[in-house]
Amino acid sequence: MWNAAHPCILEASAGQIPCRDAPHEISPAETGTDQLRKGGNQMDEQITGTQASTSTRDAGTPALEAIDITKSLPLGRERIAILKGITLRIAHGELVAIVGPSGSGKSTLLGIIAGLDSPTAGRILVDGADITRMSEAKLAQVRNASIGMVFQAFNLIPTLTAQENVEVPLYVGRHPGRPSARAKELLALVGLSHRLKNRPNQLSGGEQQRVAVARALATNPSIVIMDEPTGNLDKTNGDNVLQMIRELRAATGTTFVIATHDPDVAAAADRAIRIVDGLIATT
Ligand SMILES: Nc1ncnc2c1ncn2[C@@H]1O[C@H](COP(=O)(O)OP(=O)(O)OP(=O)(O)O)[C@@H](O)[C@H]1O
Ligand SMILES: [Mg+2]
Repeated sequence: MWNAAHPCILEASAGQIPCRDAPHEISPAETGTDQLRKGGNQMDEQITGTQASTSTRDAGTPALEAIDITKSLPLGRERIAILKGITLRIAHGELVAIVGPSGSGKSTLLGIIAGLDSPTAGRILVDGADITRMSEAKLAQVRNASIGMVFQAFNLIPTLTAQENVEVPLYVGRHPGRPSARAKELLALVGLSHRLKNRPNQLSGGEQQRVAVARALATNPSIVIMDEPTGNLDKTNGDNVLQMIRELRAATGTTFVIATHDPDVAAAADRAIRIVDGLIATT
């Protein structure tokens, strides 16, 4: 469960988590019942200002590389091994599902990939830069510029409106344009132009999930990491969020890494990486 008193929570709530050891366990959230109100063409038109800078990225450099990642944690007098040597490489523009049984280490791996948590050993390269050896200040910059994160429990700031929640990461670092205009553009993209002024408790679960997706995309990150983005949604909303992910990927070239138990999400991915007991399963 997120610790509301933790100093990292405000930025964590904005999807820009500034410190590695912030608590990151995901709590269940309510199920949404609304529907995405958008068409695919509309999204393509609206996304013009959000084009990822993939053309400027070195085509030979993977978006993300994990090299022999291990994670162990103390439990009483012992240490338990959660990740036991994960090596993977994800290309720019790939949509990759991370699948595997409950407790296999998917969320732990995502937290490490996002720089939210430190590995016990191993390295994470984002756009070729080793985030495991960065100062907190530099890491915060990389997160803000390159990584968007969507949590299962949304983690919106309850006192802010939908529009203000999307604006928050735009006030960190330098980003082109006015935050309010960009937030409106992103919320239109996810079909929420009519809910700009609503606070999270005035939004359905599906609408909150879409605000969280809009916030994760606000800074035009090269990688969006999602932990069970459809896990708390009904079938209709789950399908809509998945459709949105596919269209965003096609329109922006953003790389998506998605932990999921949802077979529809796994089927929509370019490939699925299966984690079993802290290791990548080969079959
Ligand atoms: N702070 C902690 N201390 C001890 N063990 C932990 C801690 N956090 C996670 N674990 C253990 O690490 C293992 C992996 O947890 P993780 O949350 O990464 O699994 P997961 O694959 O995301 O599971 P799920 O599909 O249920 O979300 C679990 O066995 C969990 O109990
Ligand atoms: Mg998990």
